[in-house]
Amino acid sequence: LQVDASNASGRPIPETLFGIFFEEINHAGAGGLWAELVSNRGFEAGGQNIPSNIWPWSIIGDESSVYVVTDRSSCFERNKIALRMEVLCNSNGSSNVCPSEGVGVYNPGYWGMNIEEGKKYKVALYVRSTADIDLSVSLTSSDGLLTLASEKIIALASDVSNWTKKEVPLEANGTDHGARLQLTTTKKSSIWFDQVSVMPVDTYKGHGFRKDLLQMMVNLKPRFIRFPGGCFVEGEWLRNAFRWKETVGAWEERPGHFSDVWNYWTDDGLGHFEFFQLAEDLGAAPIWVFNNGISHKDHVETASVMPFVQEALDGIEFARGDSNSRWGSVRAAMGHPEPFELKYVAVGNEDCDNDHKPYYRGNYLEFYNAIKNAYPDIKIISNCDGSSEPLDHPADYYDYHIYTLAMDLFKMSHNFDNTSRVGPKAFVSEYAVNSTDANTGNLLAALGEAGFLLGLEKNSDIVGMVSYAPLFVNTNDRRWNPDAIVFNSSHLYGTPSYWVQQFFTESSGATLLNSTLSGDSSSYLVEASAISFHANGSDYIQIKAVNFGNESVNLKLSLTGLDTSITKVSGSKKKVLTSANVMDENSLSNPEMIVPQESLLEMPEDDLTVVLPPHSLSSFDLVK
Ligand code: AHR
Repeated sequence: LQVDASNASGRPIPETLFGIFFEEINHAGAGGLWAELVSNRGFEAGGQNIPSNIWPWSIIGDESSVYVVTDRSSCFERNKIALRMEVLCNSNGSSNVCPSEGVGVYNPGYWGMNIEEGKKYKVALYVRSTADIDLSVSLTSSDGLLTLASEKIIALASDVSNWTKKEVPLEANGTDHGARLQLTTTKKSSIWFDQVSVMPVDTYKGHGFRKDLLQMMVNLKPRFIRFPGGCFVEGEWLRNAFRWKETVGAWEERPGHFSDVWNYWTDDGLGHFEFFQLAEDLGAAPIWVFNNGISHKDHVETASVMPFVQEALDGIEFARGDSNSRWGSVRAAMGHPEPFELKYVAVGNEDCDNDHKPYYRGNYLEFYNAIKNAYPDIKIISNCDGSSEPLDHPADYYDYHIYTLAMDLFKMSHNFDNTSRVGPKAFVSEYAVNSTDANTGNLLAALGEAGFLLGLEKNSDIVGMVSYAPLFVNTNDRRWNPDAIVFNSSHLYGTPSYWVQQFFTESSGATLLNSTLSGDSSSYLVEASAISFHANGSDYIQIKAVNFGNESVNLKLSLTGLDTSITKVSGSKKKVLTSANVMDENSLSNPEMIVPQESLLEMPEDDLTVVLPPHSLSSFDLVK
């Protein structure tokens, strides 16, 4: 690999090249990054219908002692469903005596709540009753037999005759990764419940994000975050699309919605505000994808799209407006008086399809003109692919998605080599190796992606942003394989695709160095790139090379154009991602089988030859 290591002949890599794409898919947010432990906290999962879908709530007790019904008596206008619990037994009396453990309802959260000894939890719920209440609020083992934390709510009928918010702090005296919340009583009564929440006190920056999952995002040093989807933004039908106005304000007041694309209900605790907060906490530029009046199965024609345009403008004002503006004031009331730094929006997702979505271009132009008029500095991303021919409409970026087999993606490292150098830049916002090549996330897939990413890095004059998809999967609801971060209620691991991304954490804002790989390309499946960057007081040259083949390759590095020679080869480092079998995967029981191995780089200064093991990605950080 010949590298011209003089910064002067290099080219700056965009500051925002590598980021992440967060979609509410696979319970990435609800039951994942959003730390709320109760699932279906408002009993609203059936929409506004009576009876509603109260799953996964269940009853404790038999039909002679307790039953539940839903009604529309909630004090919250946008989510009227509440649960009425009729307790038929009593603690005293001669007949129908309640069992000593009480009767009531329980919520197992998202396939079990992670309750940990010594940790604190905030329970909040709304109650109403016609009689005095004596209610136990408990976190228990999954069968209810072991109590991990419990407090009582005791109130006179006169105090709870109207809806009343009760907050119950709990501290766990034991650990159970599959725990549940119980609301039980031994007192004959009618009690209504609504908006029941259990939040761990310990969340990232106190902002409600599950810490271990968020740390995995932080470790990628993402320069942007695209959200909230994906197909999640579109919906199968427009009525089930993500609509930001339904997701802001007090958590209790959010109606929640059913994602008919990914087939699950979300309470929308992770809403429009929280996504911007997440971006800010990550130090990443927010990229908001909004619905442009098109879903998978229906659409509004361009002549009728203005309400959607206004909704997008309002959503931008929510993020950027000052606290006196209509929507900026809603953001300020939620605790963030300063505007969020929103500079990128995407008009829809995968909607540039003339045959099935004939209104995309017309709708797009309405959004483009209205947004540029109100916010000239906002960069607008089109769904139409501009990599092979120029776009027929104005845009700052065009969205590019690719899911394919490993060898195909590896070879696509040259995909952008011949793309026009003028016009909007590419935003490769979704890429991954999928299908049988990837299984649930193996090394083969990751190496195909590594080759592709090296090509994107080298083409970063016209590729402005890159993110893998999907980011998260809860093992209990795999809607899409593979994914970068796999988790359940308490544990997680990164797939090899996650670790490949970690090789690019120094790239954004670095300098791309001219490099030429020579050798017999029919024998070797190797791609490489070279960058220079500054970190921790030192200047580095970083060579990254992927060996997609099954034989080891000796790579001779020839560095020219250095002001000084590489003086500290002995202090330099190498990092290798590989495994005995290219089909190997990490798992919850073996989460670190395939992770980068770091070591000092040992080689003579006059012969910079490095070994690329079979099926591997390596990086070599040479201290200048
Ligand atoms: O990443 C999963 C899905 O793939 C996204 O929702 C969609 O944009 C693409 O089809």
